Amino acid sequence: MSQRSCLSVILAAGEGTRMKSALPKVLHQIAGLPMVAHVVKAAEAAGAGDQALVIGHGAEEMRKAATKFAPKAETFVQEKRLGTAHAVLAARDAISRGYDDVLVMFGDTPLIDPDALTVARLKLAEGAGVVVIGFRTANPTGYGRLIEKGGKLVAIREEKDCSDEEKKITFCNGGLMAVAGSQALKLLEAVGNKNAKGEYYLTDIVEIASGQGLDVIATEASFENALGINNRAELAEAEGIWQRRRRREAMLSGVTLIAPETVFFSHDTEIGADTIVEPNVWFGPGVKIATGAKIHAFSHIEGATVASNCDVGPFARLRPGADLKQKAKVGNFCEVKQAVIEEGAKVNHLTYIGDARVGAGANIGAGTITCNYDGYSKFFTDIGEGAFIGSNSSLVAPVTIGNGGYIASGSVITESVPDDALAFGRARQKTIPGKGKELRERFASAAAAKKK
Ligand code: UD1
Ligand code: MG
Repeated sequence: MSQRSCLSVILAAGEGTRMKSALPKVLHQIAGLPMVAHVVKAAEAAGAGDQALVIGHGAEEMRKAATKFAPKAETFVQEKRLGTAHAVLAARDAISRGYDDVLVMFGDTPLIDPDALTVARLKLAEGAGVVVIGFRTANPTGYGRLIEKGGKLVAIREEKDCSDEEKKITFCNGGLMAVAGSQALKLLEAVGNKNAKGEYYLTDIVEIASGQGLDVIATEASFENALGINNRAELAEAEGIWQRRRRREAMLSGVTLIAPETVFFSHDTEIGADTIVEPNVWFGPGVKIATGAKIHAFSHIEGATVASNCDVGPFARLRPGADLKQKAKVGNFCEVKQAVIEEGAKVNHLTYIGDARVGAGANIGAGTITCNYDGYSKFFTDIGEGAFIGSNSSLVAPVTIGNGGYIASGSVITESVPDDALAFGRARQKTIPGKGKELRERFASAAAAKKK
């Protein structure tokens, strides 16, 4: 089948008023990726080499976004919203190039499983003219009903056009269709708009194709595949389903999730086997975790790379550009941004490391801060191999601490420190015997005099 050419036409003109949002509906995200991008990914995974995105009038925002998640896709504008068949025809130029298979998908139906699309394409390869991906539900209200006769699909009836008898049908149109490329334009052009909504219904191609003696069939997929998003409650529902699928996949690939329902992945999270993730961990986009790492509870990680056998958290924040090499450790209440933590280095408590390198085996004491920003520009801190930074030190960048450098606790370091040097950057301590007692007595008698 892989030799068969395939175009996916994705209807992404959703206006999204029920999202109550300034953002077009299909750009709302699931797992950190616009929902329409999930649809594009599924189409690609099912072998659709080319994509046609049908967007609404004036949808510049959509076009711009599409260059990121589907740079190869062509965009077509449906000027007026006259129905789903009319929308597909906006991509006429792409369809008429001649493909073996045309997949029609909705941009607001992000959980479509590529396997369901692959099954539909197989049916086309076996000679079907139209394949509809259906699902069964106890509550079919609002969906187009699949009307079958003798195992063949003969029509799809939209809710508003259904007879009372037809309304009882629980086999519904999921909104995804595969059409033989050689028939697609002919079928779409034959669609009229004589129905309750006065729209050109894509679903009418079923009756037309069946009337022409083409083989028209329905395949069945789970309801999740057809879950259409119209408001933010459904968006959250889809997110939940996506996360559940991803957690299972992670666990089956060898990752331990102690409380899976509290761990959140992004669309592109990579995580190696034998890594253990404790409860309440968030993975934002761009995270790569190797094998055998421990991600302790309540850590927030995005844009970060964590090598094997690292230890992160609890309560750690790894921001974009954090790059932990093997066996590095970033402990509780630490933040790391745009910094390499070399092999075996330890950043254990209450520390900020930003725009920096921490050399192999270095030890960063509690409360260390790299002062990387003067309000205008960012500056780099380089900490050498095996260096020791005493607790509560401020390293004012740009600054270099040499290999084996030793910084006294509480220092403010503004000048670079050579290899193996000891640096103090704090006021010298003065201790006056008996002075504490004397002060206390003086303050107590002053307070007593006031009360009188
Ligand atoms: C559609 C199907 C219905 C199916 C249901 C599944 C039709 C006629 N009906 O109904 O059988 O059960 O999906 O969710 O296809 N769109 C455009 N331009 C238009 C109209 C729609 O781009 O002129 C886009 C919408 O943005 C949306 C998709 O097409 O992404 C489906 O349209 P929608 O109005 O949601 O159709 P439903 O009534 O849900
Ligand atoms: Mg819909």
